[in-house]
Amino acid sequence: MAAVASLVTLLSPVMAASSSSAIVADGSSFSLNGNDVSYRFHVDNSTGDLISDHFGASVSGDIPIEVTGNVNGWVNTIGRVRREFPDQGRGDFRQPAIRIRQSEGYAVSDLRYQSYTVKQGKPDLSGLPATFGTDDEVSTLIVHMYDNFSSVAADLSYSVFPKHNAIVRSANITNQGKGNLTIESLASMSVDFPYENLDMISLRGDWAREAHRERRKIEYGKQGFESATGYSSHLHNPFLAVMDPASTESNGEVWGFSLVYSGSFSVDVEKGSQGITRALVGLNPSQLSWSLGPGESLTSPECVAVYSENGVGGMSRSLHNLYRKNLIKSKFATADRPALLNSWEGLGATFNESTIYQLAKESAALGIKLFVLDDGWFGDKYPRTSDDAGLGDWIPNPERFPDGLSHAVNSITALKAANTSTNLRFGLWFEPEMVNPNSTLYHEHPEWALHAGSYPRTLTRNQLVLNVALPEVQDFIIDAVSNILNSSDISYVKWDNNRGIHETPSPSTDHEYMLGMYRVFDVLTTRFPDVLWEGCASGGGRFDPGVLQYFPQIWTSDDTDAVERITIQMGTSLAYPPSAMGAHLSAVPNQQTGRTLPVDFRGHVAMMGGSFGLELDPSDMPEDDKAALPALIELAEKVNPIILTGDMYRLSLPEESNWPAVLFISEDGNKAVLFYFQINPNINHAIPWIKMQGLDPKATYRVDGNSTYSGSVLMKIGLQFPIATDYGSKVVFLEKQ
Ligand code: DGJ
Repeated sequence: MAAVASLVTLLSPVMAASSSSAIVADGSSFSLNGNDVSYRFHVDNSTGDLISDHFGASVSGDIPIEVTGNVNGWVNTIGRVRREFPDQGRGDFRQPAIRIRQSEGYAVSDLRYQSYTVKQGKPDLSGLPATFGTDDEVSTLIVHMYDNFSSVAADLSYSVFPKHNAIVRSANITNQGKGNLTIESLASMSVDFPYENLDMISLRGDWAREAHRERRKIEYGKQGFESATGYSSHLHNPFLAVMDPASTESNGEVWGFSLVYSGSFSVDVEKGSQGITRALVGLNPSQLSWSLGPGESLTSPECVAVYSENGVGGMSRSLHNLYRKNLIKSKFATADRPALLNSWEGLGATFNESTIYQLAKESAALGIKLFVLDDGWFGDKYPRTSDDAGLGDWIPNPERFPDGLSHAVNSITALKAANTSTNLRFGLWFEPEMVNPNSTLYHEHPEWALHAGSYPRTLTRNQLVLNVALPEVQDFIIDAVSNILNSSDISYVKWDNNRGIHETPSPSTDHEYMLGMYRVFDVLTTRFPDVLWEGCASGGGRFDPGVLQYFPQIWTSDDTDAVERITIQMGTSLAYPPSAMGAHLSAVPNQQTGRTLPVDFRGHVAMMGGSFGLELDPSDMPEDDKAALPALIELAEKVNPIILTGDMYRLSLPEESNWPAVLFISEDGNKAVLFYFQINPNINHAIPWIKMQGLDPKATYRVDGNSTYSGSVLMKIGLQFPIATDYGSKVVFLEKQ
């Protein structure tokens, strides 16, 4: 073909933010300003397209309009520019943020800028979990776009949390036409990075192997990851980091993206032919196909985007602070957590009232404050004595609790935790979104289980998934859980979910399910605000910001082996605050790996999670290990406030070092606690120096009540911790003088 040469001319520079306010907009250019971040875009007057100008370090003044160079070949200008909300069908060959199948059948859109609105604060996201904040903490810009051909309106909502360097975006699509159309894909966030080399990090895994950090170079073409399991999943987490290839844990530019959603999602990273990298984060298109009749709307989940010049660690700390303060609604978000004992690995589903009372009594004697009865307490006609029966029948097993569950709860909560006047508290496990075919519920309501016509209903762990999209199922769950919580003095709930979604009546059921599930979470957590709710999905199968809106903590993994847990917890901490992690000291040999680790090592790893606990039967423990428990519980309670509210610094990573280490610094900077581990023995080799981060270089710190050093020495030279054996660990306190 004949080469068509044209140059996008530099008409005028994009107007800069002329004031220091969080949002500066004039109808042709838009600027969102955080303390250390700027997010800028403008309207292309000739096309009505929104063009991205900058997402990165804080800048002021005019930004030059990007020059695209000669437009030759098949890729027109629209395929060479950085677009804010790329639609499809008009020559941008990269993956779009939105794909609409119009009522006539074609999938072309032409969304153009119309107008904008600025609001102080942040409006709710109807039916979806979302970050929140006061008028002082957050401001919102809504940009209205419209397609004249299809009468589709798209409102892009951008909220900026200046203190956290966070921009949060969602999209609302409304069919203002007369026909039915289908939303086939909708990304919450779409960022086009200018041409440069970039790396990306994702969190991959599987059951009992969650959140393994995967860093790779972004290559030309598409690379991405998704969950198609119906839930956010162990396989990939809805989190993406993009970074300069030179960026490290503590230095350099990093962008973090975190989707506030618990269902199937998709992250697509595409380096196009022109070298521009597009990152899309949103609902999984394979489970959307969302039909919109005239007047109907679809709101996307929101995606949080943070920017840091302080490496991956800086990105994580922004997300941690934002999530602790402006996402988790529970009053326990940063409240000290009771040291707990969970019955699962100790007793499994084999117990009766007397065995759990004995276990609770032993727990209390060790200093435990909360006893949690896991799976196996329910089912009358189909008792839950194995995973083959009972799910759906939320009635205490009458054989195991002949005098009722409340009798057992009363006797357990009458126990006093050792050396305190505090009564032991009681927690209970549920898995309300599921049903065993062997249950009264299934016999009465087979139509409530998710299915696709007459296709077989495939089982996992002998169970099916209830269709939580149905209001009657939502009401059933709300009533069943409320009845139990009203019947006894229960102050903690572990909400489990142990399989993925298979057959559904329609691809859109997955998102409808999520909306139903969020309604259930919202009603129950509002009704029982004094209950400490813990999320769980076979461990970390649903460790995401959507769940955290309602439940302040999540069981991080079914792998309780402490060496594995260092990797899993450090990986999870890329996006999520340590306050949100449930972490337990379990028995040896470990049930998942068969490995035997020292009790201190197991305890020290577990106390890096906000919710520390034991997951064992102390009466089966070697005497020495058991004797160590009271001191470990006491230590866990001492470090807990710093873990819950402090800043976390991953000083060295388990993937890179034999000596993983993490420093937590209290919010006021006066206290810090270092966790240091040695995995393999260090034989006849120099002892490494561990350099702290985040301290005040000029201040003096007392180390474990002994020597004092300046912050600069601790950060630039570090400390050594000789350990003779493998699987050694140290917990070291620093106090600012
Ligand atoms: C999976 C959870 O992750 C475990 O902690 C335990 O609660 C079991 N389910 C019980 O079935």
